[in-house]
Formats: sequence, C-alpha cells, structure tokens
Amino acid sequence: MSVKVVIGSQWGDEGKGKIVDLLSEDVDVVVRYQGGANAGHTIFVNGKKFVLHLIPSGIVREKILCIIGNGVVLDPSAFFEELEILKENKINTDNRIIILPNTHLVLPFHKIIDQLNEMGTGKIGTTGRGIGPAYTDKYLRLGIRIIDLYNDDYIHSILQRNIELKNILAKHYYKIDEFSIEIIKNYLFEIRGKIEQFVSKDSTIVSKMIDEGKKILLEGAQGALLDIDHGTYPYVTSSNPTIGGALTGSGISTKQISEIIGVAKAYCTRVGEGPFPTELKNKLGEKIRNSGNEFGATTGRPRRCGWLDLPALKYSAQINGFDSIAITKLDVLSELDEIKICTGYKLNGELINHFPVDTPTLMKVEPVYETFKGWKNSIQGIRDYEDLPAEAKKYLEFIEDYLSIKIKIISTGFERNDTIII
Ligand code: IMP
Repeated sequence: MSVKVVIGSQWGDEGKGKIVDLLSEDVDVVVRYQGGANAGHTIFVNGKKFVLHLIPSGIVREKILCIIGNGVVLDPSAFFEELEILKENKINTDNRIIILPNTHLVLPFHKIIDQLNEMGTGKIGTTGRGIGPAYTDKYLRLGIRIIDLYNDDYIHSILQRNIELKNILAKHYYKIDEFSIEIIKNYLFEIRGKIEQFVSKDSTIVSKMIDEGKKILLEGAQGALLDIDHGTYPYVTSSNPTIGGALTGSGISTKQISEIIGVAKAYCTRVGEGPFPTELKNKLGEKIRNSGNEFGATTGRPRRCGWLDLPALKYSAQINGFDSIAITKLDVLSELDEIKICTGYKLNGELINHFPVDTPTLMKVEPVYETFKGWKNSIQGIRDYEDLPAEAKKYLEFIEDYLSIKIKIISTGFERNDTIII
C-alpha cells in the first residue's frame, strides 16, 4: 500500500505545493482533503508559475488523477476560474478531476458573511473566501453538498431554513439587504449542470483505489497550527489540516496510510492575526519577507516572518505522527550572518519547552534561542546534501536531533528540481 500524506506543520505556506508536486512523480492519484480556496499552493515548472487554490497540485503532471475530498469546502466559482486558468496554460484537465459527492459548497453568501465578520471586533484575518461560514453551515446541518445539487426538494427545504436564519442576522446584526432564496437557487441550478461531469456517485472511491493498489498522495492545505482543534484557537482556519482531517476528509481508514510527511519552512511565517512567539517585527523580518517572497499566494498580504520555532514543530510532529520532515526554503536564509532557532520559551521567568495550546499564554511567552552561524553562500539549486555548507548541515542536524525525526527532503529553490532528496 502506498498512501502518503503531506501536512503543513506550521501556520500554512510551508511550500506544500512544491513537495506534493515532487512526490507526485510517483503517484497515480492526488487528493485534497480539507480547506477550500483559502489555500494557495504554488508550483514552478520550467520557469512557469502555477498557483492552485482548490484543484490538487497533482494536476500539473500529466496522467495524475486529482480528487477533491469531502473534507474540502468547494466554491464552484473559484473552481471554474481555476479550471479556466489551467486550460489557458495548456494543462489537460479532461477526465482528471473528481469531486466526492459529500463535499460541501461555499456559496456567494458565505463569502459576504466572512468579509462582514472581519469588519467587526474579533478579527481573525481570514482570507475572506467564505471558509468559516461554509463550515459553520456544514456543522449546523444546513449546508449544501455537491450531491444535494441534484435534489430539488432538499435544496428548497434547506435553503428555506438556512436563509431564514441568515436573514435575521442580515437585518438585525449585519444591517445589510436580506439574501434572496431565488437568486441563490438560480445560482445552484446554473452550476449543477456544469459541475456534474466532475461529481463521483461513490464517496468511497479513494479507499477503493487504495485497495486496488493505486499509489495515492493526500494533500493537506494550511497547517497544523491553524487546525480548528489543535491550532492557536480562535486564530485558526475552520478545518482539520492535521492527520485526522486527512482520513475523514477523504473517506479512508487509518490502516491505509503508509507515510506521513510534515512540511516545515526553515523559518516561520504566519498570515492574519494570532500569536507568533518568534515573530521578527523588525528589519530582519522584512529582509526574510523579501528574500522569501513572503506574500500571500491567495490574498497577496505580506506574511509575518520569524525564526523557526522547534517546540511548535515538535507539537505538530506529536499530533500528526510525522515519519519524516521536508524542510523548505533553506536557501532564503543564505544571506544572514546568524540564524536563530527557538528551543523553548520563558513564561514569567520560568523555562517551558512545550507549545502552549492556550492562546493568551502563547501571546505572553518569550522565545529562548540557540544561535547558529550563517553560511553566507548561495545554496540555491543544490541537489546533493554533501554540497551544502557545513553551517547549513549543522542547522539541519540540530532540527533532526531536537525532533528525533529524519529530514528526508530539503528544498533549495523554487523550481521542482532544486531539491535534495535523502
Ligand atoms: P480562513 O481559512 O480564510 O477562514 O482564515 C483563517 C486563518 O487561516 C487566517 O489567519 C488566514 O490567514 C489563515 N489561512 C487560511 N488559509 C491559509 C493558507 O493557505 N495559508 C496560510 N494561512 C492561511
């Protein structure tokens, strides 16, 4: 059985797109298991840049089947836009995309509500893509799944209840015009014909494909520290990027997983609000942002940058059970005189070495650092571990020792081949 799961181990934007692309050389199927068009997975192939939001990153390689799992919330407008961009770039998508029938939809009013919520107090810094409101409807049992598009009675009754509730909020809380059931229904009727060709009737196809011996790669979006259960709540996304989400979001069993790969950037970034103990709110943070081109692939927002946080990474490894780590963007640190790694925190003068799950505490901790000499040499495009400068090897070995997990992939540039595989 070959079922690999690629999981972001930090606050998203770890470079999962590149790692998925790399590992998909050898797979038959790539499955996205959670999140929605809030994600932005960037892949460079022969100098050409692709940013994928909803469609699995495997689409840029010929012959790979791409499945959108039931854990995803799918915005049909974003889906068709992405399809169009792929076609313009001569990527053949015919018969290569399947959407599981129990995948929930993001509808236009979810995006409006997401954006309105962000204007009030308690801003999370969301991507405004309607993700939270769509998952809210799913858990309220008021959502519409792809399969429900073909059931007029269901659409009618669920919209009635859903929009009745939304309109109380629209009128009294958001103070906007009420949502029209007719307009929403027309939108649903318009997309259902177009999307039907992608919809599988069977929600268990991923599990069956594994049993048939297909090689599968499960692609996580966002990262463990943005997980709704395990992340820095409430500054999180509304899904489970962690390993449990990979199972429920694709309909497979824990027994079917063969390898879990955690992707970690050589430093840390975060977009939006929320605690970030190792954040560099200074020129150095700006320098890393510029060298690493740390601007959101979905929203263009500048990402907050800081040093690698090992207690956070260890926490992530613990809850996900990483078998190996892929370190990305090591080349971005090449110009620095010295590089720090956080190995613990101080809280009220006391040393703690675990990652506090409670946000007010995490806001207060002061990082404790180990300082490393920079290598001050370009490592861009290095493909052999032995060619790395001694200082870079020392940095990587320190991470491995701290985590007791092997680093098996090191990315040294944005192109597919700028990679060390150990
Ligand atoms: P939402 O997922 O749009 O609701 O946003 C919730 C939080 O997750 C915000 O802080 C976003 O910036 C963050 N977030 C969502 N998707 C991504 C992503 O793909 N990369 C990094 N951060 C993300």
